[in-house]
Amino acid sequence: MLWLMTSTHTAYFRSGCSLGELSDASVELVLTSPPYPMIEMWDASFAEQAPGVGKALEAGDGVTAFELMHAVLDAVWAECARVLVPGGFACINIGDATRTLGTGFQLYPNHSRVIQRCRQLGLRSLPVILWRKQTNAPNKFMGSGMLPAGAYVTLEHEYILVFRKGEKREFGEAGKARRRRSAFFWEERNEWFSDVWSFKGIRQELGNGTQRARSGAFPFELAYRLINMYSLQGDTVLDPFVGTGTTMAAGIAAARSTVGYESDPAFEPVIEQTINAAPEAGSARVFERVNAHREFVSRRTEEGKPPQHENTPHGFPVMTRQETELQLTVPTAVRKIGATTFQAAHKPLQLPPWLPGFAAQNTGGSAGRPDEQTGTGNAQLRAAATARAEGNCGQLALPIDD
Ligand SMILES: C[S@@+](CC[C@H](N)C(=O)[O-])C[C@H]1O[C@@H](n2cnc3c(N)ncnc32)[C@H](O)[C@@H]1O
Repeated sequence: MLWLMTSTHTAYFRSGCSLGELSDASVELVLTSPPYPMIEMWDASFAEQAPGVGKALEAGDGVTAFELMHAVLDAVWAECARVLVPGGFACINIGDATRTLGTGFQLYPNHSRVIQRCRQLGLRSLPVILWRKQTNAPNKFMGSGMLPAGAYVTLEHEYILVFRKGEKREFGEAGKARRRRSAFFWEERNEWFSDVWSFKGIRQELGNGTQRARSGAFPFELAYRLINMYSLQGDTVLDPFVGTGTTMAAGIAAARSTVGYESDPAFEPVIEQTINAAPEAGSARVFERVNAHREFVSRRTEEGKPPQHENTPHGFPVMTRQETELQLTVPTAVRKIGATTFQAAHKPLQLPPWLPGFAAQNTGGSAGRPDEQTGTGNAQLRAAATARAEGNCGQLALPIDD
């Protein structure tokens, strides 16, 4: 099959409080992480945007500062609700804050404040994901040590809040076909739709390491999963607090268009760098999914429970009928087509000739170890996945159809 699909990616360097460039009901997914109210690294940003924040903080009035900071975010959520299509999703990554100010230590529950506001805006609150961020720092415990009753538990998680605008999204005939192409694997469903995520051991595969750490960037994997879970290939994903552009990179990897808003223009070169690196990083992630699926099929076959369905575009075995039209794509290139607009090209993933539909594994109980089945093929796949884990995505030879 030879087809080419394109997606567009535009960054606007202004506040997400007004998404004037976007019409009503024009994006299928909002995926974002705002600055977190009452976390010190964002004090200056909020003080600039909301008169009164600086004074409240100086006066030790944390409750007022918290509300004023959330008023800035409230304006963005209202715009997100406006531009979402009916049935579109919003995924908001946010952590609570703990802080000692004025009368003392307390929790500032950002996640519940955002849920409250989004519900007022008519968004339907759905089960949330806890992103567990374990810290082994010895001084992580807060409060009076081993003496009751003045110690506080440590915050070791953030939230991914999930909302939907109204009822389930409706799909026409073309939309239904696109939805089937955008399916994910059964085993990915089992992992991704668990309500606790931990990315321990998953490296940041995007460049800009120090800048990413300083900017509160979320992991590429977080964005990539959510985009695959809550939107279709060809959809548009909005990030109103786009920072280093992680959402844009994940959109490029997953063949979605993206729009980002960022109030700090210093991020412009960082976003450009992220976008330029996205085809390589994104293709590596797709390749890794194939490798993981191949290992899954191999394991199931060894256990005498091989998948019973065949995926039509790729020819490999899959667990369910819903995966039979799943079509993986890889981003092949990006080019700048406007001041801050990029176009990405995507092609269907072609399995390499040495891996025809995982056929060698599809031999029921007599299947041996994967290496014995496919010889160098497996070694190459493993080398590719290892290269990704080590951050050497550039060394991958990608199996794409020219
Ligand atoms: C938590 S960071 C987002 C990081 C991003 N998810 C990433 O992976 O790089 C929040 C970003 O929002 C930006 N910001 C703050 N207020 C804003 C506003 N009103 N509109 C748009 N961006 C804003 C900050 O400059 C910061 O880059």
